[in-house]
Amino acid sequence: MKNQLVIRGGRRLRGEITVAAAKNSVLPLIACCILSEQEIHIENCPAIADIFSMIDIIRSIGGDAQLQNGTLTVNCKHANPQLVSADLTGTIRSSVFVLGPILARFQYADISYPGGCEIGLRPIDLHIYGLKCLGVKVTEANGRILCDGKNRKGGFVNLDFPSVGATENIMMAGALGSGTTVIRNAAREPEIVDLQNFINFLGGKVSGAGTDVITVQGVQRLGGGVYKPMGDRIAAGTYMAAVACAGGAAYIRGAEPKHMHAVLEKLRRMGCEISEFERGVFITAEGRPRAVHKIETQPFPGFPTDMQPQITAVLSCADGTGCVVENMFESRFKYTAQLCKMGAKILVKDRVAVVKGVKKLSGAHVTAEDLRGGAALCVAALCADGETVIDGVRHIDRGYDAIENVLGALGADVTRV
Ligand code: EPZ
Repeated sequence: MKNQLVIRGGRRLRGEITVAAAKNSVLPLIACCILSEQEIHIENCPAIADIFSMIDIIRSIGGDAQLQNGTLTVNCKHANPQLVSADLTGTIRSSVFVLGPILARFQYADISYPGGCEIGLRPIDLHIYGLKCLGVKVTEANGRILCDGKNRKGGFVNLDFPSVGATENIMMAGALGSGTTVIRNAAREPEIVDLQNFINFLGGKVSGAGTDVITVQGVQRLGGGVYKPMGDRIAAGTYMAAVACAGGAAYIRGAEPKHMHAVLEKLRRMGCEISEFERGVFITAEGRPRAVHKIETQPFPGFPTDMQPQITAVLSCADGTGCVVENMFESRFKYTAQLCKMGAKILVKDRVAVVKGVKKLSGAHVTAEDLRGGAALCVAALCADGETVIDGVRHIDRGYDAIENVLGALGADVTRV
């Protein structure tokens, strides 16, 4: 894939797009396939880099995985954890939740510390704590995590923080075997509910997802089948932010409004008209967005941190001043320096960004340094005067499947060079 996008701003958006399955649901679902020896088909999968990385990890432990015409087929019948390759699990964040399934199936795991990333340190202390509550013996030595799960059993896990990944890891660790696992202060994201539905679809016994107490009853084995994950609420939110910035009207299908209420509320307050349907929204935006006084990121159902850069891009060209507070990650405002190159007026102090909307941003040569920050640059470029060249598109490709085609389908002038 080439590594630059050229966007000529100023066009109103109009058209209809459909988002695929949610990246942050498909990634744990792929890890969850390790629990089963049957063939599993996950439908409506986007062709994005993080999914290909997880496919590589499945193959690296002896499993089969391939993505064909949107359907991901995984078969971990011949998976063998002795093969977990350190260099692979260091590459992406989502690798850490192969720990739970590998332990549940093979009682032993040895992985390298997952890489931190551009938005923060990404510690995994809550994952390790949860596994220890289930009787797993964990030793951390020279960058590797050795887990001895032969005495693994059910247990009670009280999370200090409703971590999405830790909740998912512990759900999968408890899914096989004889014990019962109770997770308190569990994450309540829709992706957690999707993982519960997937495990139960395969024959597991999980309940409570979507609330802060999840109960997992271990079973002897899990089966296979064809599963369709939830739609990507963050991709949908990103394209709604694009309409809010550029103006116009669009049908955005594939994600459920009930997963996006916090984002819909802010976009409506910024002046967008949004109609909600079973699996989609119709959004119109006329003229310049209005600033909202304050947006704070919170665990679900609060405003999602994965939409923080994109909504800040809309605030950059809004009428008024807004404050954005990033409570989830310690360095998720790097992209604002790139927005300032486009004329945005943003002051960042620790976890707070004060955004004074300007009438017009201007095109510039900018660089994406992380996934959602890169998406925010695309959103801003759509309403900027002139041409914006975005480097580092590989970051955007981690979570958006051919973003230039999707924005192009809405009438934007975007080319990948
Ligand atoms: C998931 O990451 C998502 N990734 C992230 O999306 C998302 O931003 C995040 O959840 C919050 O919603 C995937 O699902 C693959 P967390 P995760 O554990 O599980 C701290 C994107 O752009 N923490 O809920 O890593 C952590 O440092 C990505 O699609 C610990 O302190 O998120 C962070 O401050 C970015 N110790 C906070 O909790 C731990 O053991 C939230 O992390 C784990 C997390």
